[in-house]
Amino acid sequence: MSRNVQFRIEKVRYEELPLVKSINEMILPENYPMYFYENLFQNFGESFLVAKVGDEIVGYIMCRVEKEFKLEFPLKFRRVGHIVSIAVKPNYRRMGIGTALMNRAMDALKNIYGCEYVYLEVRVSNHPAIKFYERLGFKISKTVEGYYRDGESAYIMVYHF
Ligand SMILES: CC(C)(COP(=O)(O)OP(=O)(O)OC[C@H]1O[C@@H](n2cnc3c(N)ncnc32)[C@H](O)[C@@H]1OP(=O)(O)O)[C@@H](O)C(=O)NCCC(=O)NCCS
Repeated sequence: MSRNVQFRIEKVRYEELPLVKSINEMILPENYPMYFYENLFQNFGESFLVAKVGDEIVGYIMCRVEKEFKLEFPLKFRRVGHIVSIAVKPNYRRMGIGTALMNRAMDALKNIYGCEYVYLEVRVSNHPAIKFYERLGFKISKTVEGYYRDGESAYIMVYHF
C-alpha cells in the first residue's frame, strides 16, 4: 500500500456504527456492546470520527468527556477528554491516518467540549501505540497494575493543552 493514500476524516454516521464495532473487534481485545457505541455517538459525536479511503472506513477514534472534581469549595470541576479507543486497519498504518484522527478528536475535545487535558490507557506491551502517543506529545503519568481483563497492566498517558 502506497504511503501517500488519500484519506479523509469525518464524523461517524449512526448507520456506520456496526462497521466501527466490527473494525474494533478485528483489531483490539477491548470490545464493547452496541449501546456503548451509540452512547458515545449521541453524547460526544464531535469526537467520534472515522477515516475513509473512498467509501471504506479504514480507522476510527471514539472519545468521552468526563468530569474531574477539584478539591476546593464551592465544588468546581474540570472537563477531561478520554480517548476510549482508536484503531487503523493494518494495511493503512504508517500513513498519518492515526495522527489525523487524534488531531481532529483532540481539537474537538479542547475547542468544542472545553477539556483541559486528555488521557488514555494503553497496554504496557503495546510499544507501537506508546511510540505513536509519545510522538503526539503524550507522557506516561502512571501505571495501573492488572488493569486489563487478562491481567496486563496499563500506562495512563496524558496530554495537557
Ligand atoms: C496505534 C495506531 C492507531 C497508529 O495508527 P497509524 O495510522 O499507523 O499512525 P501514524 O501513521 O499517524 O503514525 C504516526 C507516528 O507514530 C509512530 N508509530 C506509529 N506506528 C508505529 C509503530 N508500529 N512502531 C513505531 N512507531 C510507530 C511513528 O513515529 C509514526 O510516524 P512515522 O510513520 O513517520 O515514523 C495503529 O498502529 C493501530 O491501529 N494499532 C492497533 C490498535 C491499537 O493499538 N490502538 C491503540 C490502543 S491504546
